[in-house]
Amino acid sequence: MKTYKIGLLRGDGIGPEIVDSAVRVLEAVGKKYSVGFTFTPYLIGGAAIDQCGQPLPQETVDGCLNSDSVLLGAVGGPKWDNLAGHLRPEKALLGIRAAMGLFTNLRPAKLYPALKAECPLREDIVENGFDIMIVRELTGGIYFGERGYREGKYGEEAYDTESYSRMEIERIVRVAFETAKKRRKKLTSIDKANVLETSRLWRKIVHEIAGEYPEVEVSDMLVDNAAMQLVRNPSQFDVIVTSNMFGDILSDEASQITGSIGMLPSASLSGGTRGLYEPIHGSAPDIAGQNKANPIATILSAAMMLLYAFDEREAAEAITAAVDKVLDQGLRTADLARGKEALSTTEMTDAIIENL
Ligand code: IPM
Ligand code: MG
Repeated sequence: MKTYKIGLLRGDGIGPEIVDSAVRVLEAVGKKYSVGFTFTPYLIGGAAIDQCGQPLPQETVDGCLNSDSVLLGAVGGPKWDNLAGHLRPEKALLGIRAAMGLFTNLRPAKLYPALKAECPLREDIVENGFDIMIVRELTGGIYFGERGYREGKYGEEAYDTESYSRMEIERIVRVAFETAKKRRKKLTSIDKANVLETSRLWRKIVHEIAGEYPEVEVSDMLVDNAAMQLVRNPSQFDVIVTSNMFGDILSDEASQITGSIGMLPSASLSGGTRGLYEPIHGSAPDIAGQNKANPIATILSAAMMLLYAFDEREAAEAITAAVDKVLDQGLRTADLARGKEALSTTEMTDAIIENL
């Protein structure tokens, strides 16, 4: 039996609860499809700050680099909000992405037929559903550019800079074309080329690489328009490729039109197979420890891990099919229940396991 070494970064807030749900689902699906897992927890975020004074201990970085794959819950919370920038829990997330070289972030957002009523968009807009893959650049741009404080013309001033190299743009754009090739062959590159130099370089490179993929239809869209088009006509999109910050913002928007941000998984990948898998939502401190969180985004992240990191297609599909089934059965956690009776995190996890 193949056995995979998974590093667990439970993190803060609801992180521990949802990661434990995903671990239970992985163990159950592993039994069924003869796939073994070992799970090793490492500290990250606020939990790491509390125990060892820094958000991303070296031991965590080494542990992740030595794992076959990594599953992350979420980091951050009000308790650590007033720390200096380099000590914030979020810094650990950026640190681990950089340390593992995870320049690709895949964020699929699709409308489950069972969740149509939870979608905040008008019925005629989502008649045909939508199934979007956001390819977000994850280790460059303004997230990693030079930043600081200085004395400016009007006194105290803060700055963050966006820069992108040709290499960084080329590699993410290639991933996006490859992704589009395997889907509906439509790629939308989102930028702000009417204002930003980085976007103009981005756009130029997209068109150069487009020549290598004649089968993919590619178009550019300005980010402000894209934010509007996502709620005006989401079914026009297949694959979206965009920079780190635009991808951060647009993926939250895309998640909300699926019904709940609690539904969206993600895979962060380097050139190789090792990656980090995490829900796109945050640590939701307001409901932490209450067994209320929707575990589906993390469970679907585990399914993405089975597919992308281990090529365990059957096991991955068993999980996504089980999620489809529980939604079809009308089972909902509080984020999707609109005040009606809701399942707890553990009840939703049990229901998914029963349907594997
Ligand atoms: C995300 C999150 C992170 C990001 C934060 C927590 C640093 O919002 O994964 O989307 O901005 O990348
Ligand atoms: Mg985000």
